[in-house]
Amino acid sequence: MHHKKLKPFPKNFLWGASTSAYQVEGASLTHGKGPSCQDVKELPPGTSGLDVCADHYHRYKEDVALMAEMGFKVYRFSISWSRLLPEGTGRINQEGIDFYNNLIDECLKHDIIPLVTMFHFDMPAALDARGSWSNPESVDWFVEFAKLMYESYGDRVKYWLTINEQNMLTLVGPLIGTLHIPEGCTNEIKEIYQQNHHMLVAQAKAMALCHEMVEGGKIGPAPNISLVYPASCKPEDVIASQNTNAIRNWLYLDMSVYGVYNNLVWAYLEENDATPTFAPGDEEALKNGNPDFIGFNYYNTMTVEHYAMDDQEEQTAGSDQQHQRGEKGFYKGFRNPNLPTTEFGWEIDPVGFRSTVREMYSRYRLPLIVTENGLGAYDTLTEDGKIHDAYRIEYLRKHLEQIQLAITDGVEMMGYCPWSAIDLVSTHEGIVKRYGFIYVDREEFDLKTLNRYRKDSFFWYKDVIASNGEKM
Ligand code: BG6
Repeated sequence: MHHKKLKPFPKNFLWGASTSAYQVEGASLTHGKGPSCQDVKELPPGTSGLDVCADHYHRYKEDVALMAEMGFKVYRFSISWSRLLPEGTGRINQEGIDFYNNLIDECLKHDIIPLVTMFHFDMPAALDARGSWSNPESVDWFVEFAKLMYESYGDRVKYWLTINEQNMLTLVGPLIGTLHIPEGCTNEIKEIYQQNHHMLVAQAKAMALCHEMVEGGKIGPAPNISLVYPASCKPEDVIASQNTNAIRNWLYLDMSVYGVYNNLVWAYLEENDATPTFAPGDEEALKNGNPDFIGFNYYNTMTVEHYAMDDQEEQTAGSDQQHQRGEKGFYKGFRNPNLPTTEFGWEIDPVGFRSTVREMYSRYRLPLIVTENGLGAYDTLTEDGKIHDAYRIEYLRKHLEQIQLAITDGVEMMGYCPWSAIDLVSTHEGIVKRYGFIYVDREEFDLKTLNRYRKDSFFWYKDVIASNGEKM
């Protein structure tokens, strides 16, 4: 138990949950939508396609009503770029515009604030074919898309998030299916960080444009932030953890908030002959984009140790977005022996949540909103239509307790949107790795009824929200 007098959650705390378009909607190649890179990528082994997902495209009314029943103040969802612009630029798909109009109106009808992610891992395939983020024109493509969204929805959507987990795209993009290394590339690091640079400039321009076009609009980034621990108190391990914090976390936030490259990252890029090329006007654009808050996803911390240049052990790439490979002379991944893991091998670290937000807030002093946090697990639907997911409740409760401690520490927390509002397709493990409060009756290949069921965590979260976090 805590021996601390806890501060309450703020009065207007934004309780809600998140989804992303390609993982939840379905209707991936119908209703005028163009394919995205997710629709054309090779499916992870043992998983089904994206044509149905949770069928949110057709059942959004029922889904939003269930969210309202839980008491959501906010719903974070993403807009599919290729649903609005099937070729990524130019021609507009009116049906796509209408779908999000309807979804937004449905949220507002229930007093739920829409929190819109502009880009969540789903580059239009047509733009992929034109080089995706490696093409310097990608900045303009994104600005065109942003402009269309502000024009279409800015009268009602006042909270925006730019790019979901840009840091994970940069660190493990090919694994997610969104970042490509062109064939014959001779300096991979340079290529990746040039693409990253384009995303940073695109984000900065989108933030500035939001303030110009959306009355009362607020916007922020949505990286995956988690503190990187040193494996020991060996001074070299501390240096390695600082390196990794810079390359994994601070690069993205230093850039969004201050408009400058983190110096440790810049030094690393110089060493690898990989500094990005600035187009004319980039420097200014990066300075002119200013977030109003910081959105961030948190699943677990990371631990690293010193990785000597002459170390014989080779660290290979990880298998998903929580597992990065090391870099000789810079850092080496380390399995933290103090932390349990989920059944999918992800470390669980609620206390690390608190240290992460403390650190972020002291660096940036902007309100923070959690845009993802949650537990992926196999759930079972019982004969009488129940889902007893006590493990998920425990995970979420432990993380919320740490948020409250962080609030008590003086951190300005704006909201909490765990992953995910409803079961949806995971990045690598199909739909059977479930995260939702709402259960979707389908299996990986058997679509069954697609009916919705309230999990035990649904009722638990409803009470949490109703008591503004007093009853956890
Ligand atoms: C985040 C992503 O990395 O983690 C989500 O923003 C993703 O899109 C979530 O689904 C959980 O990861 P996974 O691999 O379990 O689906």
